[in-house]
Amino acid sequence: MVIEKICCLGAGYVGGPTCSVIALKCPEIRVTVVDMSKERIAQWNSDKLPIYEPGLDDVVKSCRGKNLFFSTDYTTAILEADIILFLSIHRQKHLEMEKAADLKYVEGAARMIAEIAKSNKIVVEKSTVPVRAAESILNILSANNKPGVSYQILSNPEFLAEGTAIEDLLCPDRVLIGGEESVEGHAAIEALCSVYEHWISRKNILTTNTWSSELSKLAANAMLAQRISSINSLSAVCESTGADVSEVARAIGLDSRIGSKFLQASIGILNLCFQKDILNLVYICECLNLPEVATYWQQVIDMNEYQKTRFTAKVVQALFNTVSGKQIALLGFAFKKNTGDTRESPAIHVAKTLLDEGATLHIYDPKVEESQIFEDLTHPSVCENPEYIRKSVKIYEDAYTATAGTHAIVLCTEWDEFVFLDYKKIYNGMMKPAYIFDGRKILDHTNLLEIGFHVHTIGKKL
Ligand code: UGA
Repeated sequence: MVIEKICCLGAGYVGGPTCSVIALKCPEIRVTVVDMSKERIAQWNSDKLPIYEPGLDDVVKSCRGKNLFFSTDYTTAILEADIILFLSIHRQKHLEMEKAADLKYVEGAARMIAEIAKSNKIVVEKSTVPVRAAESILNILSANNKPGVSYQILSNPEFLAEGTAIEDLLCPDRVLIGGEESVEGHAAIEALCSVYEHWISRKNILTTNTWSSELSKLAANAMLAQRISSINSLSAVCESTGADVSEVARAIGLDSRIGSKFLQASIGILNLCFQKDILNLVYICECLNLPEVATYWQQVIDMNEYQKTRFTAKVVQALFNTVSGKQIALLGFAFKKNTGDTRESPAIHVAKTLLDEGATLHIYDPKVEESQIFEDLTHPSVCENPEYIRKSVKIYEDAYTATAGTHAIVLCTEWDEFVFLDYKKIYNGMMKPAYIFDGRKILDHTNLLEIGFHVHTIGKKL
């Protein structure tokens, strides 16, 4: 089967970059990304894309209008497509701690495809979906089947990380495609493989049955999060014993069986997907009557909550047990560097706790818009009084003005530019004693101590 047209439902952090790279590498395929939000599509069609991702602008500019299109016209895109990529159309801002992954959006999109499609389609689940979502999608599609229209559902989870999305898409460790074990299933898998084979060698494309593929996505995120929760748990031991968690991470990471990646202790990880995926795994285990397994994975989340709470408690404690009326600079608001994404960012938790305790916050992040920070902090799960937030939070254009006149700096995101700031200058502009809380372990603590700062970090007594 020759693939001529691909349509992607959902123009978010995964859909936009993924389709841009497909368009770049497959010039003969017409790729259309659709989204319900007119505003978001207008941004994708403008000079200022709705997401910040290194390298993305160039890829979009080179393909947009040629074989890459952003549109709100679902009907035409679905009617024409050979392959429909299914991405979370639902953009959840704040994670409710419900475990059952919400299939409502997947279901809605499946019904829409069933209503519109007039020819055979390969439907590809690309975003993280609950295990057996493919089955639900197929059930909906088959129940609404029209004569002459048949569907194949594939699971093709995306493993890209934000901040390195383009790099990850161009050179993935592997591509995973799961499908039905039938002639038609294999043909659909082959069709999707042929798209990836434009730039990825066949030996890096792994094919499995659908459920293995769906579960592998949850498992990969759970294992990654588990490593971070493990090192974070050890950081608490380090602070109480005099060990340094960076030294411990280096020492254990040199064991080739363990490896050095994902051993960086921090104020807490859980980005939206890690949290959602582990909760989903816990839920599945409970449903399968595997309570011990569910408890095991729940601990990864619990440890993360503990780490976040421990860090903010340390800030308050060091500042003489009260931050009421104090000016505190928050450097970084995104959940990690090189992205403007703030969903489930630990900075929101830190800000909420400090605001609850009566502090005034001075926030600077190189890529997060002021409107986004206010949107996050005035969300009902963070604060019931938006007026109070508007009075207590100021957003700045750079780190120097953000820190001027403050009692303490709390570093929440590991942006490179924070490493290279002139901390002597910053110290001179702050109230004394001046405190710095390095939540990402990226600063030169010896230098900061010499300047005169009181320094606190994760996993090391200073
Ligand atoms: C993560 C996975 O790495 C991707 O493979 C996956 O596709 C994606 O989730 C998803 O399913 O959405 P992402 O959240 O973009 O990607 O970024 P990560 O680099 O994994 O970082 C997640 C969080 O863990 C960040 O807050 C980061 O600062 C933190 N982290 C990461 C640590 O605290 N320590 C580390 O050693 C590594």
